[in-house]
Amino acid sequence: MAAVCKGALAIIRAAFAPENLPNCLRKMNKLMTTLLSLAVASVTCGAFAQDKAGDVKAGEKKIAMCIGCHGIHGYQASFPEIYKVPKISGQGAKYIVSALNAYKAGERKHPTMIGIATSMSDQDMADVAAYYSAHGKTDAVLAEKPSKEPSPQVAALLQKAACVSCHGANFAKPIDPSYPKIAGQHADYLFVALKAYKTENNPKVGRTNGVMAGIAKQYTNAELKAMANYLSSLDGDLKTVPESRFR
Ligand code: HEC
Ligand code: HEC
Repeated sequence: MAAVCKGALAIIRAAFAPENLPNCLRKMNKLMTTLLSLAVASVTCGAFAQDKAGDVKAGEKKIAMCIGCHGIHGYQASFPEIYKVPKISGQGAKYIVSALNAYKAGERKHPTMIGIATSMSDQDMADVAAYYSAHGKTDAVLAEKPSKEPSPQVAALLQKAACVSCHGANFAKPIDPSYPKIAGQHADYLFVALKAYKTENNPKVGRTNGVMAGIAKQYTNAELKAMANYLSSLDGDLKTVPESRFR
């Protein structure tokens, strides 16, 4: 697939190369066709990049950079406020790749994670995601229903944007593997994440996600916090699994 992407890029570069400029007008038709096929190619390339098969063993060798934050119980980030770094062990592999790509593309503006994601290839992301999605897995089967009923106030808030319709009835079985499991995630992180979807025009803070932006904006921060606290109190697959740095 990568070869096809490179090929398409080579064609487009050739079309714009200075030595070809005098022919430019005659080539206009051809160029339009090329642009069209390039658009198709890049859509296909994107889809394939997301679908790279990950290798758990290869991933294990690539997480040295992650464990200093994601492998320490209760480790706190200090930007843009103090909150615990998200649990990623037990998170869905496709969602991990999708989140890393969102940092890499600048759709998620957290500076540290942008730096880290930018240093990773598609294969690195797939391997690390395969590793973390299997990390700390037990045979325990989660109930279909949430492990705890929400208060009437929180129930009404969750109902308003139909959170279960995407994140799953127990908030741990999203309808699409590229959507996050949120049951049992740290409350302060969930709150920071939800607020980030509301944040606009800030160069260092915010998430531009078409789906969650429209949803988060329907709520006050106090309401987001109430939902975050409830979601965090639920049983789920998410964990922080401490790891020795000296393996
Ligand atoms: C310096 C600390 C630090 C390091 C090192 C680090 N992370 Fe993160 N990571 C964070 C913080 C803080 C966030 C939350 C950022 C935000 O608010 O969007 C985060 C978010 C994430 C998320 C999104 C989680 C979610 O629920 O959406 C993923 C996935 C992730 N990191 C994977 C990794 C991987 C893989 C590595 C190693 C290659 C890594 N991180 C290294 C601090 C770190
Ligand atoms: C239409 C589907 C849909 C609905 C409805 C929905 N979500 Fe989401 N949610 C998503 C997707 C997709 C993402 C990942 C966005 C991204 O990549 O940043 C997400 C991300 C999140 C995150 C960030 C998780 C993380 O680990 O960073 C939280 C928290 C969240 N949603 C909570 C909620 C709550 C609470 C509701 C109801 C008020 C809700 N969602 C409704 C699809 C949905």
